Amino acid sequence: MKPTEERVLLPGLVRLLMLLTAALVLVVVVVIIQFYGPVAASAPVANEATDGPPLPGSYHRPAVRAPDTATIPSTAAGRQVRYGRELIAHTARYLGPQGSVAHLTNGMNCQNCHLQAGTQGFANNYLAVAATYPKLRARSGTVVSIEQRVADCMEHSLNGRAVPDSSREMRAIVAYITWLGQGIPKGKKVYGTGFVKLPYLARAANQVVGKAVFATKCQRCHGPAGQGQPLADNTGYQYPPLWGPNSYNDGAGLFRVTNLARYVKAAMPFGATFDQPQLTNEQAWDVAAFVNSQPRPHLATPHDWPDISKKPVDQPHGPYADKFSEKQHKYGPYQPIEDAHPQPAKAN
Ligand code: HEC
Ligand code: HEC
Repeated sequence: MKPTEERVLLPGLVRLLMLLTAALVLVVVVVIIQFYGPVAASAPVANEATDGPPLPGSYHRPAVRAPDTATIPSTAAGRQVRYGRELIAHTARYLGPQGSVAHLTNGMNCQNCHLQAGTQGFANNYLAVAATYPKLRARSGTVVSIEQRVADCMEHSLNGRAVPDSSREMRAIVAYITWLGQGIPKGKKVYGTGFVKLPYLARAANQVVGKAVFATKCQRCHGPAGQGQPLADNTGYQYPPLWGPNSYNDGAGLFRVTNLARYVKAAMPFGATFDQPQLTNEQAWDVAAFVNSQPRPHLATPHDWPDISKKPVDQPHGPYADKFSEKQHKYGPYQPIEDAHPQPAKAN
């Protein structure tokens, strides 16, 4: 190589390298803005008192930043996602006692408990589902698919029967849940999913106090007998029932007092959010004890928790791997039970 050629070639290489570096920096900046910029600007302020610091290793996209429904394409696949969203929001219209597709579930909607079509932060949203299922559930002792998890809520929370895996409805629900989870890396925890953390009370949750909380904070919508308020055309509910024959059954997730207390703390009275709760922790625990002490449909689940030592502390049905009573398991105090377990039996 002649000296002159070398002088021409080297600056050329340097320029190319600089260009490549600039392009790389640009890409990184765009990615950062995409994921963190707008989120940081509009994310709700986390309330350390109720939700604690972000979970270790959590993927920092607050759950309230679900993908925009306007981005669902107008293709056949997009229509399926939209139908899935519709089924979550208005389940009873399609599958309830007057359902247009089948009569399989009670008059409730998935959205009654998975608020805003399963997108609201700490209100039981679906953002992490696609990234975490199939997963091992101690309840069944098996690896569970999204379909099986959906069926579980249809049988317990909606006290009915599930649509078959191959049905148009199940395919649409799974498509919507998968669409919601787009961009979330497999196995990552998402901040804002599940429920808020609610410290245990030192005492048992108190149904008598909870009854008074119910009267002042819940009854005006859910009715004096917790029966809810049916829609005028009887196709579902304006305000869903909290107990009685049309409510979730005693095998449902919400029948566990900790789940109900944590849900109610961040979501009820309707309009409350995890960063703007309306109940004290005590009120949430006590009202949950009251609601779950009222009558509701019974479903025998003899095959649940094949390993009883894995039951969550507040699993209200024995047998247990410890000496605590069903009553204490149901209403607390929970800390002594947790302390007595070699491996603390936590939720799920
Ligand atoms: C009465 C309240 C209620 C209703 C109605 C309800 N669910 Fe659920 N669902 C829960 C609770 C509580 C949990 C989590 C607690 C647990 O796992 O025990 C849950 C969990 C789930 C999960 C797993 C979430 C995760 O991150 O692991 C999926 C998926 C789900 N529900 C789908 C549905 C679908 C679909 C419907 C309607 C067909 C529905 N649910 C109706 C209360 C409800
Ligand atoms: C302003 C009316 C209103 C008040 C007050 C209210 N709720 Fe609700 N509640 C709703 C609505 C509406 C839903 C269904 C949300 C949806 O579908 O988007 C709901 C859903 C629920 C659910 C899940 C579905 C079910 O029926 O099991 C529970 C549990 C619940 N509320 C408990 C409570 C408790 C406990 C209180 C009092 C602390 C309370 N709510 C106060 C309107 C209200």
